[in-house]
Amino acid sequence: MHIDILTVLPQMFSGVIDSSILKRAQDKELVTIEVHNLREYSKNKHRHVDDYPFGGEAGMVLQIEPIDNAITALKKLRTYDEIIYTSPDGEVFNQQIANQMSSYNNIIILCGHYKGIDYRIREHLITREISIGDYVLTGGELAAVVMTDAIVRLIPGAIGDEQSALSDSFQDNLLAPPVYTRPADYKGWKVPEILLSGHQAKIDEWKLQQAMERTERLRPDLLKK
Ligand code: ADE
Repeated sequence: MHIDILTVLPQMFSGVIDSSILKRAQDKELVTIEVHNLREYSKNKHRHVDDYPFGGEAGMVLQIEPIDNAITALKKLRTYDEIIYTSPDGEVFNQQIANQMSSYNNIIILCGHYKGIDYRIREHLITREISIGDYVLTGGELAAVVMTDAIVRLIPGAIGDEQSALSDSFQDNLLAPPVYTRPADYKGWKVPEILLSGHQAKIDEWKLQQAMERTERLRPDLLKK
């Protein structure tokens, strides 16, 4: 999979995409993540990528030209399944969307700007708009990081034990059951007996019942889906 991220703040990505599962998936060549600085696609001599909005509102708006230049250049290299714009007014991201996107070959994620981007980009170049929740971030970079992480960890082979991605919370609209490790007794705080029993069928039944109970208590909305 190839993920191209378009941003005015490329420095926000280092550290995150070079760590943990995202790093391992890139080392294993399961995914290539390229962060592109939109300023490099500006023809302006000062590399400006934003300008005042028509109609006189406060704040700056990302211009169409550098974004069109970047997307046009990338489209010459590969065919994209989706060109995504991160925005608080997009479709709310969830595990189903992450699953779907983890099967794609190529995506572009365009990071929104705090005041917005020229609307013509959304009308003519973007195929899908995604929000990561009903709150407003300063820009779309954190949203792009969240989406990239959620998508890449689902690519087969990214997580050592593939089962562990399948048993994540939300994969079947259930929250995950509790997990424990050694010691089995810490200051009298004990691990549930059943997990030490070695009886796999009973353990699986317990896990399902715990998942149901936690979902009913904490996220009853998921059971209605
Ligand atoms: N940009 C600003 N807020 C956002 C959000 N909630 N989701 C995605 N992109 C955003």
